[in-house]
Amino acid sequence: MLTGAGISAESGISTFRDSDGLWEQYKVEDVASIEGWYKNPALMTRFYNERRKQLLDVKPNEAHRILAELEKDFDVTVITQNVDNLHERAGSSKIVHLHGELMKVTSSLDPNNPNFIRMLGEDELEVQIGDKAADGSQVRPFIVWFGEAVPEIERAVILTSQADIYLVIGTSLNVYPAAGLLNYVPDEADIYLIDPKPVPWNSGKRFTHIMKGASEGMKELKQYLYKDE
Ligand code: APR
Repeated sequence: MLTGAGISAESGISTFRDSDGLWEQYKVEDVASIEGWYKNPALMTRFYNERRKQLLDVKPNEAHRILAELEKDFDVTVITQNVDNLHERAGSSKIVHLHGELMKVTSSLDPNNPNFIRMLGEDELEVQIGDKAADGSQVRPFIVWFGEAVPEIERAVILTSQADIYLVIGTSLNVYPAAGLLNYVPDEADIYLIDPKPVPWNSGKRFTHIMKGASEGMKELKQYLYKDE
């Protein structure tokens, strides 16, 4: 499956492109691009500190929980564009973060080197300019910014190409390469889209659109998944 900001909306985390979305308050290039980092690392460090601290105030919602419960009966992998840790906290065990993780920081010289990627503790939600990664460079958020490669996309393509059922939950399919994953869903797979609004569907593949919020949509989806039981 592919999840986006919409699945975390009911937990109180704003999406990006809805009317009250994050990109209404900030310019993407200033706070979510590699150019923005070179131009003003202090601003971006503060931006992600704020988003990381917000994680203390939110918790997984029913949609995250139902997804985690599906693991009892299905081989589930969550491919998410989200950088929050709500899928983990709901109990999902196989998660691919295409755009990184808010609770991790890394080297600003060699950001995808596993030796320098570090999980922050609950008591360490802010990093500052001057904090160093293990290689001595300025520490940066372990987030994939616009203008950077998406190292996990190959793994996501392989997982997508093996799907029998593919869920698309809470994403406007605006951002590539994530949105391109639909092209790799096998023709014989059942595709379900859960989104309260129409989404520009970039694939010729048939899909069932459950036009509801994530929690209500996942409850309806469960009926389809277990209808033959
Ligand atoms: N339940 C389900 N879907 C919802 C809900 C809800 N309660 N509320 C909103 N949505 C839907 C919106 O209709 C929209 O289609 O979630 C989608 C959110 O789209 P975006 O805000 O564009 O978020 P997303 O698709 O995850 O953005 C992709 O863009 O800025 C980058 O890196 C960032 O990962 C992000 C990427």
